[in-house]
Amino acid sequence: MRGFDVVIVGGGIIGGSIAFELAQEKLRVLVLDRQAPGQEASWAAAGMLSPSPENPDSIPLVPLARASLELYPEFVATVEEASGRAVGYRSKGALEVLLAGEAGRELSTLIALHHGLGLPTEALRLEEALEMEPALSRQALAVALLPYEASVDNRALTEAVLAAAARQGVEIRAATPVTSLLRQGGRCSGVVAGGDQVSAEHVVLAAGCFSSEIEGVSRYAPTRPVRGQMVALRSSRVHLTRVLRSARGYIVPRDDARPQKLVAGSTLENAGFEKRVTPGGLAQILSAILELAPGLAGTEIVETWSGLRPDTPDHLPVLGPTDVEGLVMATGHYRNGILLAPVTARLVREWLTGGSTSLPWENFSPLRFLEARRHTAS
Ligand code: GLY
Repeated sequence: MRGFDVVIVGGGIIGGSIAFELAQEKLRVLVLDRQAPGQEASWAAAGMLSPSPENPDSIPLVPLARASLELYPEFVATVEEASGRAVGYRSKGALEVLLAGEAGRELSTLIALHHGLGLPTEALRLEEALEMEPALSRQALAVALLPYEASVDNRALTEAVLAAAARQGVEIRAATPVTSLLRQGGRCSGVVAGGDQVSAEHVVLAAGCFSSEIEGVSRYAPTRPVRGQMVALRSSRVHLTRVLRSARGYIVPRDDARPQKLVAGSTLENAGFEKRVTPGGLAQILSAILELAPGLAGTEIVETWSGLRPDTPDHLPVLGPTDVEGLVMATGHYRNGILLAPVTARLVREWLTGGSTSLPWENFSPLRFLEARRHTAS
């Protein structure tokens, strides 16, 4: 039997979306996951589809994030149709709320920055904001409407993408950790997984924060885990239409049911690969969301969890071909993996099928860390 056209290392939202996209090109695709697919960062995320930069470091990401957000309605429709599952896509916008004690944040600066980046954010009067979201705190100092933002049920989406890929003929192997890459004649010819050799024309590395654990990968993708703790609430009295967000935390409505499910987060912690929910983490999230919507004080906490974001030294994703033929990176999406899945899948298809790429991606090249090392050495 011939090997695969493409082996994808990692069965999260990124690996699954790439597999689904490539299967539609009739490529023979294998997804390998170290455990059960879709159970790491894709499962732990909040599902916010927010292209707005959270700090100056993420400004270079905005064009890619905007492009991916534009792809989302079609991506969701295709995945829902191919999988027969709903993924909870909500394009209802978000409110960015400025609260007391946020030194250095000003609404006019935020709006000017967003407009410069092509994001049509609007200033709201407080009465307008309260009319839109009656649960919003009366202590809000200023509020911006981000009408273009959306959200998705990331767990449902990840499951649906994997189901859609499988229906298109993608083979998905759980509990098959990849330990190293195979090389033949200067090119990458497959992987070693679960002690066996698996050969392929192309290898796509999409293993999130575990990418750098694979032998030979950290030179391209020096990923590291950043823990985020999360809380889910069931709210009978407080109802939100939009995402509410401040510099300290966020609340994402999952549905319009009553009681309503709300997902809130998060922490940014360097705790290695240890997934744990801590009193300090929960206290931070709960105090942030009660500042945003004090009426949530009496709601029921239905779930707490934590996940590991795949961070990189410059906090930007690692996307593109490497200097080894046959080896492509699609990892390090940090806080934006759910949002960036459609555009990542499209770019990988374009690289692998030899066409020109529809978007500039060079800022995210896997070669940037090699070049940085060379400069440090010289
Ligand atoms: N993407 C949400 C978070 O990182 O908390």
